[in-house]
Amino acid sequence: MSDVLLIEEMPCESGDGTIAMVTINRPEKLNALNQEVMAAIKEMCRWSEENDDVRCIVITGAKPNPPPEGKRAKPNAFVAGADITEFVGKKSNDIRSLFKDNAWEAIWNLSKPTIAMVDGFALGGGCEIACSCDIRIASTRAVFGTPEIKLGLIPGGGGTQRLVNIVGLGKTMEMVMSGETISADEALAIGLVNHVVSPEELETRTMGIAQSIASKSMSTLKVAKKTIRSALENGIGDGVAIEAEAFANLFDTEDKEIGVQAFLARENPEWKHR
Ligand code: COA
Repeated sequence: MSDVLLIEEMPCESGDGTIAMVTINRPEKLNALNQEVMAAIKEMCRWSEENDDVRCIVITGAKPNPPPEGKRAKPNAFVAGADITEFVGKKSNDIRSLFKDNAWEAIWNLSKPTIAMVDGFALGGGCEIACSCDIRIASTRAVFGTPEIKLGLIPGGGGTQRLVNIVGLGKTMEMVMSGETISADEALAIGLVNHVVSPEELETRTMGIAQSIASKSMSTLKVAKKTIRSALENGIGDGVAIEAEAFANLFDTEDKEIGVQAFLARENPEWKHR
């Protein structure tokens, strides 16, 4: 994997398996997504999907490096957007091919649980990466926004569509059309993030949630994720029927019997499909 994307596999406390801590690593450019980063994200998604050890993926941005003497420190960033320098002189045909099968879709299409751990700027494509994840945990210094309108653009990594589903029509309209940023507390108030904690607590809190998720049956987690996602594509009637069918099908799995027996025996389940 390239230097612009670091992967640390952290052991699951509940037994075997790992949580992949994925760090987008261009701190001098506020972790902006250039083509190299986007290719590395797609590769990471392929790797984590195929690697049975990986039970949860946490995506974050590299912390700023100490500044050279006399220079100001760069701010903290999750990802400050797509790399704007790569937009210069580009036309629609260039962008269509560059953004085909893009990194945001690769994250969104992962069957395994994903968490965005956001400390600092999550703007444009960075906000979209966070929205492609299942869960977002922010520090108090996180800043969210879709400032593309200031460049004469709109979000292009699924941002308009996923934001609507997360925060609703009115808030999406305001964010996309004004391009103004919102604080972590505002993001919490509109449901864009699940939790806001101090920067010092961010990793502990995120890993606590990741560890809790990673301790469950992987095959059941995948069914849960797919079933919840179906709510985005179906009316409530069809969605409830899809859920009922998924629920019934789980009764044919070994892990359902393991989970139920472990509860009755007051033991921790030893999942077959970890
Ligand atoms: N693409 C390319 N480079 C970016 C970038 C982006 N999206 N966001 C930040 N950078 C670079 C800056 O050019 C600068 O590089 P340099 O030090 O080599 O000049 C470095 O990251 C630090 O950013 P800087 O602007 O100096 O930090 P700041 O504290 O003054 O401002 C932001 C921080 C986030 C407000 C500002 O960088 C910004 O507005 N970034 C663009 C956000 C955006 O429009 N994203 C959507 C893109 S579609």
